[in-house]
Amino acid sequence: MSSTLRIGVLASGGGTNLQSIIDGCQSGQISAKIVTVLSNNPDAGALQRACNAGIDHQCINHRDFASRDDFDSAVVTALLEANVDLVVLAGFMRIIGPRFLEAFPGRIMNIHPALLPAFPGLHVQQKALDYGARFSGCTVHFVDGGVDTGPIIIQAVVPILDGDDEGSLSARILEQEHKIYPQAIQWFAEGAIRIEGRRVIIERAAPTTTALIHPPLTEPS
Ligand code: GAR
Repeated sequence: MSSTLRIGVLASGGGTNLQSIIDGCQSGQISAKIVTVLSNNPDAGALQRACNAGIDHQCINHRDFASRDDFDSAVVTALLEANVDLVVLAGFMRIIGPRFLEAFPGRIMNIHPALLPAFPGLHVQQKALDYGARFSGCTVHFVDGGVDTGPIIIQAVVPILDGDDEGSLSARILEQEHKIYPQAIQWFAEGAIRIEGRRVIIERAAPTTTALIHPPLTEPS
């Protein structure tokens, strides 16, 4: 691995998580460099954000490929050409195939807008609302062969409030995403992350002892 961690970001959408990582690299919160931003979506706001920040970027449109393997190969080639150490999926809405996983073993992270293992997949803010969950949140995890199943690095919990809709809950979760993703990447950059089976050990991370209860217990009168 090169001395400064070289990050490749894959994003399909607006790119607010990408922006939080760009900002983290610029402020020094993250000791790493984003060397390339790739999107499968030509209209992704993430590409514009990369352009604004002067970061190398390109669209690799999955629709131009006959199979997922072919698309994965093109993405892997671009990441290898950029000499990427860590692949960061930031709102990347494609499933990563075996060829991609093999090229970056233990070096692909994803952020998911729910408290895994609850609500993997798509439209998960609405699913948490429909289920009647009292809490949701977000999860940064390593990517394995399943859908949102890899070892968990960090999670943030937010309450689901009466009157929430998909938009308000998504916004509350997104605010936390922008905090935990830069932190997870910085831990990786520091070499502070160790994977032991399903468990991710973070050296030097303080233990959390706070329990959250929602709705809160009634205070005795
Ligand atoms: C984020 O909420 C991210 O967690 C989610 O897409 C959004 C992207 O927002 N990712 C997934 O659902 C992955 N399956 P952004 O483009 O503003 O970063």
